[in-house]
Amino acid sequence: MEKLVIEGGQRLQGTIRASGAKNAALPIMIATLLAPGEHRLTNLPELADVSSTLSLLGRMGCPSLVGDSTKIDTTRIAFNEAPYDVVRKMRASVLVLGPMLARQGEARVSLPGGCAIGVRPIDQHLKGLEALGAKFELKGGYIHGTAGRLRGADITLDFPTVGGTENIIMAAVLAEGTTHLRNAAREPEVVDLCNFLTTLGAQIEGAGTDVITIEGVTRLTPASRPYPICPDRIETGTWLCAAAITGGDIEITDTDPAQLTDVLTKLQEAGCTITTSGTSIRCQGPETLRPFELTTEPYPGFPTDMQAQLMVLATLANGESTVTEKIFENRFMHVPELCRMGARIDAQGNVATIEGVPTLTGAAVMASDLRASAALVLAGLSAQGLTEVLRIYHLDRGYEHLVDKLKGVGARIARISDAVREESVMLAALDA
Ligand code: EPZ
Repeated sequence: MEKLVIEGGQRLQGTIRASGAKNAALPIMIATLLAPGEHRLTNLPELADVSSTLSLLGRMGCPSLVGDSTKIDTTRIAFNEAPYDVVRKMRASVLVLGPMLARQGEARVSLPGGCAIGVRPIDQHLKGLEALGAKFELKGGYIHGTAGRLRGADITLDFPTVGGTENIIMAAVLAEGTTHLRNAAREPEVVDLCNFLTTLGAQIEGAGTDVITIEGVTRLTPASRPYPICPDRIETGTWLCAAAITGGDIEITDTDPAQLTDVLTKLQEAGCTITTSGTSIRCQGPETLRPFELTTEPYPGFPTDMQAQLMVLATLANGESTVTEKIFENRFMHVPELCRMGARIDAQGNVATIEGVPTLTGAAVMASDLRASAALVLAGLSAQGLTEVLRIYHLDRGYEHLVDKLKGVGARIARISDAVREESVMLAALDA
């Protein structure tokens, strides 16, 4: 197993290119199941979750070839099952339900089970798919879905679930007739999925709004040109926070400022100078960060995936901040670890009150979920002394080339075996 070692205190300066969005890549790769043939995707990030999805498709009989343009061949589907060992590691695997019911009329998917940030049920997914005509039974921890030709329906979600919206859209595109999906998720990754489906011949209106209308078609075919995955807005926001917390100056290129309005506003509130132009965003961190209030909401509100990262800024602000998490029931796993670095955070239920301190101090800290891990890296970049971030397999799920990107803007960071205990060895790794 490996860990990250970080020596904080460097003002990070320079340019980082945003990778393709993990949360667009996963549904789009799974959506290839809807159109038999060879698909080509570009700007696919090199991430553990992307590899897991490609291996899941492979186990279903759809081989892929990774390169500048990644090919996925969905001509034949041999198995219509997403097994427990895949789903428990990557919840997004439940997205095979929609496409498989639409294409094969049958799907068998392990229930995802909970994860560090919450129970994360899929009741809304099933509600929508049943409205389209699917039938489900639960056996041995697996959901077994069957359907004849799906029929368009008028569906209203109880709340704008991202995965639920994506699963239902992927089923409705091949259903007979019209589907109106109301209270739909508006995230940019949902829009990217709809854009991809349109290149296959799907007829979708309203992507990015809370009412999405789908005219079912009888068949979909692979696009003639490779599809470019949209940029990762959460990765972008994470590196902007790296500039904010080190008093640095970082420009993110190949990204989309329009997808980050609430995050950029919050960074400005915290004292950062933000400059955007075309596909670039520049963040100059202040001498002293200012406190702020933050509440996570469905898009276009403040994204839950940026909550932990902004909380790190609050730990160093000159005053009291509050962070309210309204999307997941247990997304403060970074709090005890930040407190071990000297932060003063009082979390009661889904509200955290943060009293800023002058500086954090390095420590050995434990990653628990993807974005909490990113927050610990940010804290280490600012803290005095050495920080070790353990269980970095969480980070490998969502941050492509993390060490190289941060070294490229001046961070003292290295990836070493977690068996290394001697500080001299860690410092040598930082100088390598
Ligand atoms: C997607 O997860 C993202 N993952 C998450 O990013 C992101 O945090 C989340 O959307 C919210 O924006 C991918 O896109 C692969 P939801 P998803 O369904 O689809 C509850 C990251 O760090 N819920 O919008 O699972 C659920 O428990 C990851 O990149 C139900 O109760 O999110 C949660 O509390 C983490 N019933 C809330 O809704 C359902 O049927 C939001 O879930 C579905 C969801």
